[in-house]
Amino acid sequence: MRSILSSAALAALTLAGLAGQPVQAQGELVVYCTVQEEWCRPMMQAFERATGIKVAMTRKSSGETFAQIKAEAANPRGDVWWGGTGDPHLQAAEEGLTLEYRSPRLADLQPWAVRQAEQSKFRTVGIYAGALGYSYNTQQLARRNLPEPKCWADLTRPEYRDEIQVADPNSSGTAYTKVATLVQLLGEDKAFAFLREMHRNVNQYTKSGAAPARAAATGESLIGITFLHDAVTQAVAGAPVKIVSPCEGTGYEIGSMSIIKGAKNLENAKKFYDWALTPEAQAIGAQAKAYQVPSNRNAPVPEQAPKLSEIKLIDYDFAKYGSSAERTRLLARWDAEIRNAPKR
Ligand code: G6P
Repeated sequence: MRSILSSAALAALTLAGLAGQPVQAQGELVVYCTVQEEWCRPMMQAFERATGIKVAMTRKSSGETFAQIKAEAANPRGDVWWGGTGDPHLQAAEEGLTLEYRSPRLADLQPWAVRQAEQSKFRTVGIYAGALGYSYNTQQLARRNLPEPKCWADLTRPEYRDEIQVADPNSSGTAYTKVATLVQLLGEDKAFAFLREMHRNVNQYTKSGAAPARAAATGESLIGITFLHDAVTQAVAGAPVKIVSPCEGTGYEIGSMSIIKGAKNLENAKKFYDWALTPEAQAIGAQAKAYQVPSNRNAPVPEQAPKLSEIKLIDYDFAKYGSSAERTRLLARWDAEIRNAPKR
């Protein structure tokens, strides 16, 4: 009798979610979400409404999510990794952490989204695109009579000492995109020399990639390096920011989605994957004030989305910079040479 009671009590606890483990019964899905929380939430709610499948969602940055999936590989807890920059999704694919899946929706996607799938042997797919750059607080700039930055090179000017915020490339895909972009623009040694010089002007390396856009919007930092669409979100909310697409040219992301190998809710994961590639699901981004370019050719492109055709984009080498060896090596070099470099 005692053992019956205790197992009944345990079942009740598990159902109530008090046992600390997500309930993995049928009708559930565990999503690791890597866009802004403001977009993650309505996206999951819409999927729940459309399918009746209950979603347990957690939001983390791209590098953090990659590290979590790798750490959990022996006993995966997540089903789908939705959003975040493409490089760590490609690395996860190469390391066998994610599953091959060919959605029937692939035929509806932009060529850049399909290329992302092909490059990963169909272990990831493009869901949105966005260009990198920075924004600055116009009121602070005017008040302090500082020069207007226009290029990457401007960010090392002594006038901007402690005025720049950017994320840590280990946790943030945005910041890794910045490192890889500079390496492709300048060559690796010159890029690291530039990062060392800019380091003197950095007031904080944040965990999340979009945080510096908020810091520039409030004036906590003069300049924030982020994806341009993250700065647009602040401008649309009325913040006094100017958005800069750097004069030398810039890199971009192919925000991606992958199914985690060993997913306990595999059928639901595929349902989410197919649904997330529909025009209706992709329209939720703009409703949540996220202004990336969606990957479905029939999804509406938000009018506020920075126009990629008008930005001087580099031919970002996703195969190289999304490879396990290159990403691991560049992050180690950043840790060794930049993170704790003296601010002379
Ligand atoms: C923001 C951007 C996304 C990007 C993501 C990466 O949410 O809007 O386009 O994919 O940041 O996040 P992370 O924190 O890894 O830089």
